[in-house]
Amino acid sequence: MPRAKKGNDEEFLASVAAVGAAETARLFGYSGRQAVSNRVRALAQAPVLAAARRAQETVIDHTRVYLEIENGVVVVGSDMHYWPDLPPSTAHSAMVRLVHELNPVAVIANGDVIDAPSVSKHPSIGWEKRPLLWDEVQAARARLTELEMPGVPLIWNLGNHDARFETYLANVADQYRGVIGIHLKDHFPAWRAAWATWINRESQDLTVIKHRLGRTGATAVTRAFAATGTHIITGHTHSANVWAFSNYRGTFWAVDTGTIAVPYGPQFVNYTEDNPVNWRSSVTVLTYHDYQLLPPEQLIVLNEAKRLTAFRGQVTKEK
Ligand SMILES: [Fe+2]
Repeated sequence: MPRAKKGNDEEFLASVAAVGAAETARLFGYSGRQAVSNRVRALAQAPVLAAARRAQETVIDHTRVYLEIENGVVVVGSDMHYWPDLPPSTAHSAMVRLVHELNPVAVIANGDVIDAPSVSKHPSIGWEKRPLLWDEVQAARARLTELEMPGVPLIWNLGNHDARFETYLANVADQYRGVIGIHLKDHFPAWRAAWATWINRESQDLTVIKHRLGRTGATAVTRAFAATGTHIITGHTHSANVWAFSNYRGTFWAVDTGTIAVPYGPQFVNYTEDNPVNWRSSVTVLTYHDYQLLPPEQLIVLNEAKRLTAFRGQVTKEK
């Protein structure tokens, strides 16, 4: 017998955006991800989707940042999951170094700067100890400050873990809307918050950078390219990779920005049950020449314990 479907359209779409199709299927009583996708497609034909998007933007209070870059470098780090009382990861230290060495025209934190398990919809795993949310925010603020350069735009594309910070409160204490401190971005004032960063939107060579497109799994980025038809730079899956797609219109790049965190760090060990993960610590460098994106480059952490990274054929021991 089919299970009863819960929630109205707005709640359903907000859930897909926040936790993905598989978890939404479980929460809302659908038979699986395909059933959720079918409903998303059906809603896309209806005016309700536009209304839901507006509502979501109102809650989170940011949409896109547009950048025009003729020549220059953008440094992108993703999925920091900064955690209290941990030393900086090797990838974080490498990103700080690249921000200082490459003289970027923008620095982008591509989502999940905090992990926020204490306000997750997911139930606790055993008796795991979840850090205080405020301690996570303080840790993230300290690390993000290390990435700041005077005069360089700092953009933070919202991740699903970041959204937990205010989604939790918005669902139980709507009366606090607008109170200073209730939005995560209140705590990172130097960073411009957005759902996505679009680079060179007027050109044939548009780059879209965002945390995710609601897709998960090994083919997430390739399917993201199929959906957007632009250069597409996403995080969320923690698996640093670069793919090229060529067609009559040229070559387009799809990048998985990996994670700034340590793949086997305490943020993930219970969630992944300490299984092997196809994740890599990485920093992505986008270089624009005459408004065109050159082949994207990635710094990869070679050895976390020895703090060794590889970039452009050079091995560096990070501080
Ligand atoms: Fe993440």
